[in-house]
Amino acid sequence: MKSSSQKTESRENKAIQIAWYFVWCTFLLAGINSLSSCAKQDGEAAKTEASKENSSKEVVKEKPQYYKVKNVELGASIDAAMAKNGTQIFDVTCTGCHKYDEKYVGPALGDVTKRRTPEYIMNMILDTETMIEKDDTVKCMLQTYLMKMPNMQVDEKDARSVLEHLREVGQKK
Ligand code: HEC
Repeated sequence: MKSSSQKTESRENKAIQIAWYFVWCTFLLAGINSLSSCAKQDGEAAKTEASKENSSKEVVKEKPQYYKVKNVELGASIDAAMAKNGTQIFDVTCTGCHKYDEKYVGPALGDVTKRRTPEYIMNMILDTETMIEKDDTVKCMLQTYLMKMPNMQVDEKDARSVLEHLREVGQKK
């Protein structure tokens, strides 16, 4: 009699152990999943956004609702005067945190025009707070850079010049 009740007890213990095992697995998988979705976001998802830009005009119009700057017109070639102005603004306002070829306080920006759309870049400069709050790509970057980019209070014309400067830097790459 006694031994059979002990058996049931140990069987119950095993069942509880197994149940816990499943709970932990679920947690672990959820964790891994959220990490990898960020990795995807930062690389592939954003890249597709940029390549769609080149291939289909329809997609260009489908910008996220929260973008303050909805559409940026780019010239076929670089506007040298605008780029020169942009270089000066970049040197004063951005180099404290950004380099061209390597991560610094923020991501390297030398190839940013190849990774991101012009609208994304403009909104990142002009409406930084909203981008940090709403944009999945930026939210994921926060996990890497551990600080929020401040709004640098650049006006729209100067932000456009900085974009032109970044296009010029990107062309040389
Ligand atoms: C005080 C530091 C700081 C300054 C100054 C700063 N940034 Fe940033 N920037 C960051 C950080 C950190 C990130 C990564 C996103 C985050 O964590 O907020 C970032 C992200 C970006 C991104 C997105 C890059 C990507 O790969 O998607 C762009 C574009 C950008 N910054 C442009 C600029 C420009 C242009 C200026 C100057 C007008 C500037 N930043 C000034 C810290 C800064």
